[in-house]
Amino acid sequence: MKVVVIIPAAGLGTRMASAPGAKGKKPAASKQFTDLGGTPILIHTLRKFAASPEVSEVYVALRSNEISPFRTRLEKEAKDILQKKVHLVEGGEHRQHSVANALAAVAAVPDDIVLVHDAVRPFVTEEIIRDVVQAARKYGAAIAGLPAVDTVKQVERTSEGALITATVPRERVVMAQTPQGFRYDVLKKAFDEAAADGFTGTDEASLVERSGHEVAVVMGSPRNLKITTPADLELAQFYLKATS
Ligand code: C5P
Repeated sequence: MKVVVIIPAAGLGTRMASAPGAKGKKPAASKQFTDLGGTPILIHTLRKFAASPEVSEVYVALRSNEISPFRTRLEKEAKDILQKKVHLVEGGEHRQHSVANALAAVAAVPDDIVLVHDAVRPFVTEEIIRDVVQAARKYGAAIAGLPAVDTVKQVERTSEGALITATVPRERVVMAQTPQGFRYDVLKKAFDEAAADGFTGTDEASLVERSGHEVAVVMGSPRNLKITTPADLELAQFYLKATS
C-alpha cells in the first residue's frame, strides 16, 4: 500500500501580489514560488514530503511554462527532493483541475493512499502526515483540521459588506487544512462524479463528502498555515526563524 502525494502548485496567487498586472511591471511571482528564507515556498513544502518515510512518490501540478525551469531548479538546488520519484504535471484553471490532472497521471491500486497538500503550506509536520495517512487507511478518507477558536457566523453578502443570518456552534466547526488523504478508489470515484456533475469544490474532502463517503478529521496545527497574504508571509518568516 504505497502513499502518493499530489501538490497543486499551479495557482496565480493574486492575493499575494500588491499590484497584479500593473502597467509596465513584471507580474509578481506565484505565491508558491515566493521566497521564504532564500528558498521558494514550494521547495520547503516538497522537502517535508521527500523526508517522510511514509511517502513513495510526489506529483506536482505546475503551470506549463513553469515545468521545465522547475525541473532544472530541483536538479541544481534540491537534489535531496529528487531522491523520491517526483513527477511534474500540467495544472489546470482551478485547483480542482490541477489535482484532477495529477490524479489522472497517478498509477495506483484501489487501496493505495493519495495525499493532497497545498504547495503553500510549508510547515506541515511529519506527525500530521503520519496521522492523516493512518486515518485515511482506517476510514478511506481523512483530513487535517483545526478546531475553530473564533465564533463563526453565517452571513449574507450585501453591497456594503455582510449581514449575519446565523451563529454556527463553534464546537461543530473545524477549519479544513491539508494534507487530505484518501484511498485511491475513493478519491477517483469522487473526482469522476464531480466532473460528470460539473461540481467544483475548494478542497478534495468536499468532493468525497458529496460522493457519500465519510471523512475523518485529525488534528492539524496552527503553524500549518496556508500562506495566502503578505501578512501570512511575515508569520511564515517568523516560524521559519523559530524552527531553524
Ligand atoms: O489559490 P488557492 O487558495 O486555491 O490555492 C491553493 C493551492 O492550489 C495552491 O497550492 C495553489 O498553487 C494551487 N492551485 C493550483 N491550480 C490552480 C489554482 C490553485 O494548483 N489553478
